[in-house]
Formats: sequence, C-alpha cells, structure tokens
Amino acid sequence: MSRTMRVLALSGSLRKASFNTGLLRAAVELAPEGMTIELGETRDLPHYDEDVRGAGMPASAARLRAEVERADAILVATPEYNYSLPGGLKNAIDWASRPPKQPFAGKALGIMGASGGVSGTMRAQYHLRQVAVYLDMHPVNKPEVFVRNAATLFDAEGRLVDAAAREAVRGLLEALAALSSKLRG
Ligand code: FNR
Repeated sequence: MSRTMRVLALSGSLRKASFNTGLLRAAVELAPEGMTIELGETRDLPHYDEDVRGAGMPASAARLRAEVERADAILVATPEYNYSLPGGLKNAIDWASRPPKQPFAGKALGIMGASGGVSGTMRAQYHLRQVAVYLDMHPVNKPEVFVRNAATLFDAEGRLVDAAAREAVRGLLEALAALSSKLRG
C-alpha cells in the first residue's frame, strides 16, 4: 500500500473568523483516505527582506520552508484582495521559495477560495496560478473551487455546512490526490 500523502494547507487570511481558513478546516474533515492535511502557520513571518535572509533565515521562515519540503502537495485557500492574492500569502510563498532547492518545485497545488461576494476569488486564484508557473508547481486545473456568498455557507461556529460547497472541496482534494500520485509516480 502506498504511504500517506502529506498535504500542507496555507490560508491567505489571518483573521480568526476567516471563511478561507474555514474551507481548510472543511478540507481536513473531507480528506480522502490516505491523505493528511496540516495547516501551516504564516502569522509570524516578517516581511521578506533579502538582507535578513542573507543574515540567516528567520526561524519562522525556516519552519515554513521545512513544512513545504516535507509536504507531498500544497493546498491553498485564499481570499481575493484588490483583485489579487493577499500580500501575506505572497510573502509566505516568497520566504519559502528561496534557493537552494526551491521546495515547491514539482509539487501538486490545489487552489480554492471564498469571498463574501459573487466572484469567489477567481482573479486571485488566477494570479496564484501565475506564481505557480515560476515555482514550477502543478496546479489542479479542474475542479476550480470558487466559493461565493460565503457568509451564507458557514454556520455560526465557522463550519462549512453548505452541501454543494463541501462537495466542491471534496472534489478538489480527490483531484489533488490523483495529480500528486501521478507526479510522484
Ligand atoms: C477585500 N475583499 C475583496 N473581495 C473580493 O471579492 N474582491 C476583492 O478584490 C476584494 N478586495 C479586498 C481587499 C482587502 C484589503 C480586503 C480586506 C478585503 C473582501 C474579502 O473577499 C472578504 O473580506 C473575505 O471574507 C476575506 O476572506 P476571509 O478573511 O473571510 O478568509
């Protein structure tokens, strides 16, 4: 039997009641057999500064980088900020992606996002796909998961309760597992 597939999940939002972090909690519940999903921490990262890196990776950045290295695949749930991905998420990717041996390369990437409005973060997701090209990652093409009108889909405790949205998350995880298995041979 093949070993467990380790997925590192990154949220583009830091707020406690984040819909996107809620999507990742749902993903943990919905993970297919053989997949474990761990939520990465990005809150304690400084702003990327090449001089700081030159003096030695900050512990928070080294930790995130090691988590990316250990992971078989990456799962991102991101809001859209001003039609793009949030600066904090980009900053986390920037820290973890510096050489040597950039650890995102060759890995499968699942992308989803939730917004309070009707676009469901599609513009942010397409910017993240562009970033993935440089990182030499392999984003899941389909299904695309654009969670719209998010406030209506979560309960008061922040649990994703909408059946269709849960099914969309499950479908993405299955596609991520299939792509990651294919990439890892
Ligand atoms: C937003 N929001 C937003 N929504 C959207 O659909 N398109 C956008 O371009 C933006 N831009 C934007 C910029 C900034 C700085 C903030 C703080 C917010 C609204 C955003 O989608 C909403 O706050 C989400 O609920 C944020 O996701 P979390 O925190 O719930 O995961």
